[in-house]
Amino acid sequence: MEIVRLSTLDDWADTVAARFTARLAARPAPRLCLATGNTPLPLYDRCVAAVRAGAASFRDAEAFLLDEFGGVPREAEGRCEQMLRRALIDQVDLPAARFHTIDTDAADLEAICRQYEAAVGTLDLTLLGIGTNGHIGMNEPGAPPDSLTRRVDLSDETQRSATHYFGGRHTPTWGVTAGMATVLRSREIWLLATGSSKAAILRRLMTEPVSPLLPASLLRQHPRCILFCDDAAAAELPPAPPRPA
Ligand code: F6R
Repeated sequence: MEIVRLSTLDDWADTVAARFTARLAARPAPRLCLATGNTPLPLYDRCVAAVRAGAASFRDAEAFLLDEFGGVPREAEGRCEQMLRRALIDQVDLPAARFHTIDTDAADLEAICRQYEAAVGTLDLTLLGIGTNGHIGMNEPGAPPDSLTRRVDLSDETQRSATHYFGGRHTPTWGVTAGMATVLRSREIWLLATGSSKAAILRRLMTEPVSPLLPASLLRQHPRCILFCDDAAAAELPPAPPRPA
């Protein structure tokens, strides 16, 4: 896993956004999987600004929501779809039909998961955040490496942090997530981490053995995974080995 460390949150957002918009331009029809949560928000802000300035476009992109909470009202502010629409989708030039959501209200969830998995195919770039317990998407510790898109129960820790997305009004206990195998199939993966609350899990990510008990650690075996972090999140990382002379 390559590590790109930026000193401040602003540097982080500028750098990741510049690389992201370059990726958008580099492929004729980029297939993206996009995380929600708080971490990507400064990045999405920069992307919106770039589109408004005519410096980037989602015109030819295909965007898949990484995961979605279940058992909470469809319009609730903390639903992943609502978060991503507010932060990015509704403000850029992505054609509406190319934003793929996950309908956790559907009666037949297994069919929804199968359809999502088939539609995703091979992604060009997946953006992930990381939970303080090492989850990626809603793949909690113990998620099988070969798991596909499926319904999952959320750990107590994840439920506690998710309730903030809903202003404390709802606490989701389950969701549907792109699976570990779905994510690992992506040609490129960017793991995003900022702020001191991520320092301990980044240390664990880079120092503990690769194991499904720490789902993000499986990303270390991916050939093109980059961890983009700021100094606060990187504070407990072991020092980088010296570069060969
Ligand atoms: C969001 C997601 C989650 C978050 C993670 C970190 O779509 O899949 O795995 O990326 O919980 O959340 P934040 O960024 O709010 O710290």
